[in-house]
Amino acid sequence: MTNSHLPGVEPDDFKAALGRWASGITVVTAPGPDGPVGLTASAFSSLSLHPPLVLVCIGKASYHHENFIDAPGFGVHILDATQEEVSNTFAFTHEDRFAGIEVEDGPLGVPLLPGGLARLACERYEVVEGGDHSILVGRVLVAEVSDGAPLAWWQGGYRRLADTP
Ligand SMILES: Cc1cc2nc3c(=O)[nH]c(=O)nc-3n(C[C@H](O)[C@H](O)[C@H](O)COP(=O)(O)O)c2cc1C
Repeated sequence: MTNSHLPGVEPDDFKAALGRWASGITVVTAPGPDGPVGLTASAFSSLSLHPPLVLVCIGKASYHHENFIDAPGFGVHILDATQEEVSNTFAFTHEDRFAGIEVEDGPLGVPLLPGGLARLACERYEVVEGGDHSILVGRVLVAEVSDGAPLAWWQGGYRRLADTP
């Protein structure tokens, strides 16, 4: 919150500037009362090492926003360059996003997806107010990694790193 009466940046200028920030892409999952929920999110960050914390920003307009912030834990899947389809499914599909996916049951009932560069199972640590998003902070319980190249997002499109080893 701010007490300043200065006007904020225009939305288009905000989007143009923030679109120049390159990020990876994650799928965030959580156990819901009616089954697993999941959403594609690029607003993800490492937060703290001691304790091991990460954060992800969940839009309040998301159909499953309450499920995410109420769940005892959540999973974060860092997508690899082959998983554009997975990203699209968890961003744009309104049918069962988990159809045909073999979901593993992680700690606290967190649904874990196969594949990807890394997956984290987190315990809910804190939920912080963030304008039209909620900042969901998790303490990482388990972190698993695989080799591969990342799927990136930059200026509104999927990108691949040119110099992935
Ligand atoms: C590349 C990409 C990144 C996204 N990042 C976020 C994000 O960080 N947080 C978020 O709440 N939504 C993000 N979204 C949008 C959600 O994935 C999408 O709004 C959500 O899945 C809508 O479905 P729902 O209302 O059923 O949850 C992103 C979408 C795409 C394609």
